Amino acid sequence: MELRHFKAMNKVHDTAGYVAALEAFDSIPQLRELKVLARQRGGIVPGGSVLDVGCGFGLETLRLADEIGSTGTIAGVDISPDFIAEARTRAEEAGAAAIDYQVGDAHDLPFADGTFDSVRAERMLIYLKDVSSVLAEMKRVLKPGGRLALIEPDFSTNTINIGNRRLMRRIVDYETAVAVEQSWLPGPLAVALSAIGFNDIEIATRVLIFPQELGATYFKSIGVHAQEAGVISGVELTEWQDDIDRLRDKDQVFATIGYFLFTATAP
Ligand SMILES: C[S@@+](CC[C@H](N)C(=O)[O-])C[C@H]1O[C@@H](n2cnc3c(N)ncnc32)[C@H](O)[C@@H]1O
Repeated sequence: MELRHFKAMNKVHDTAGYVAALEAFDSIPQLRELKVLARQRGGIVPGGSVLDVGCGFGLETLRLADEIGSTGTIAGVDISPDFIAEARTRAEEAGAAAIDYQVGDAHDLPFADGTFDSVRAERMLIYLKDVSSVLAEMKRVLKPGGRLALIEPDFSTNTINIGNRRLMRRIVDYETAVAVEQSWLPGPLAVALSAIGFNDIEIATRVLIFPQELGATYFKSIGVHAQEAGVISGVELTEWQDDIDRLRDKDQVFATIGYFLFTATAP
């Protein structure tokens, strides 16, 4: 479950694997709740104009299209041509071919100033070096008073019920340091939004509980990363993986991560 490589999505060849991983995440009830809240607080209404930045293959974009209805307009932008191709296929299959999907970069959105009532992004900012310039781009394409909704995780909150807590901490700390550009983004995000001029900043959180298989696969993989980097030994990796396998065999994996929703109003 190499979710960390989304930061180099244009170089990734295993699109099917990423699609499967994102779909597994999308099925997590606590994330679904946060997405519903993002739509409510993000100003998604029938007839509205909406942009999904870093839309991937359009999992949420399709739901937004449904909510704004035939009188609304909706666009999705992603840097990955593979994901945009998949998004277009899914939109056609769902009878939502009017979604304006475009390959593009969040740093340079292909829209005029003041185009949208609502802009949203989910798990995209964590992969970017310069978050503030992308927030400024989002503000630029929002109408004055338009609504922004951002869903992002804090990687340092990743945890699994392995008895050796020091080993767990070392592995998660290593992964947090290298997995993404902004592994604790929720920390500075409110200040960054405010500095750019956004108002009415509100924050909601959910702790996501990984499905058994996703949790086992993900946490085993980050053990491998830590061992490859020399952070843990081969013996410790074997202990880590055996412990996770034992829990999975009994359906007792309990792995979680904290997710955050930020909503705000453009000036
Ligand atoms: C973890 S995926 C999330 C996709 C989607 N938001 C979702 O929740 O299903 C991160 C997405 O951000 C996209 N992305 C990364 N950097 C980007 C950039 N600079 N501009 C636009 N999209 C980008 C990736 O291609 C990928 O589709």
